[in-house]
Amino acid sequence: MMTFISDIEKEIGDEFLEKGYVIKDVIDRSYLDKIRSEIFFITNNKKSINDKEVSEYLNFVHKTISSDNLNNFRIDIFNNLNDRPWLRSNYYNSAKSFLDLIVGNELCMQRRVNLSIQMPNDKSSLLALHSDVWSGDSPFEVVAWIPLVDCYDTKSMYIMNSNYSKEFYSSFSDYSNMSTDEIFEKIKDNVTWIKIKYGQVLIFDQSIPHGNVVNNTKETRWSMNCRFKSVFSPYGDKKLGDFFDPISLKAATKMGMGYVEPKIEK
Ligand SMILES: [Fe+2]
Repeated sequence: MMTFISDIEKEIGDEFLEKGYVIKDVIDRSYLDKIRSEIFFITNNKKSINDKEVSEYLNFVHKTISSDNLNNFRIDIFNNLNDRPWLRSNYYNSAKSFLDLIVGNELCMQRRVNLSIQMPNDKSSLLALHSDVWSGDSPFEVVAWIPLVDCYDTKSMYIMNSNYSKEFYSSFSDYSNMSTDEIFEKIKDNVTWIKIKYGQVLIFDQSIPHGNVVNNTKETRWSMNCRFKSVFSPYGDKKLGDFFDPISLKAATKMGMGYVEPKIEK
């Protein structure tokens, strides 16, 4: 297939297709710093002194919040954050350079940005092995997953190795009588645990099986995730205007949408 894409676009595109994900340093961390500081403000009712204070608070929030209160705590922050008119643009701008290269420049974005908080040893917020496409997402969607703290080992998430995922898909019926936990036991040597620092973004192919397990580290994971797709690629259950909003329509698209057929009197 002949293409005329730039070297940088080819490089990141090939990496994404080969691994099923890319991890990149955000170009401008101030977008993320604002989100983190806002979380500190929402939860502590005061401004943070510095970045270190925010990191310490987030990583060790399990010392101040019990796991029984975790979900209400998370939902309260999620609602507060999503009420901020700048949240989605900050989130998008953190990953924009890479989304433009991987997904396109006329994008739609999920209307609410999700927030995950996974405390050490907490079993209430686990996502067993799954592909989002199996539950109705379009295979044309990507997820931009952004950690608010450094994530590693079980504090992070895992993604099945891309080549193994193709084998897994082709022998899917072999797993039909197994629970997701049993499947995970079988495939666990063929996943990559995502090692990612605050200030980086993970963009991944959500059709590749992924998930998490109980966080066995001493720190709490905070991460956000949001779906992006090309406005013009096929939709799954999540529709434009309902789950997704267009965020970067070009003039020619608006021109086409505004075109009205000439009126012919009969
Ligand atoms: Fe998922």
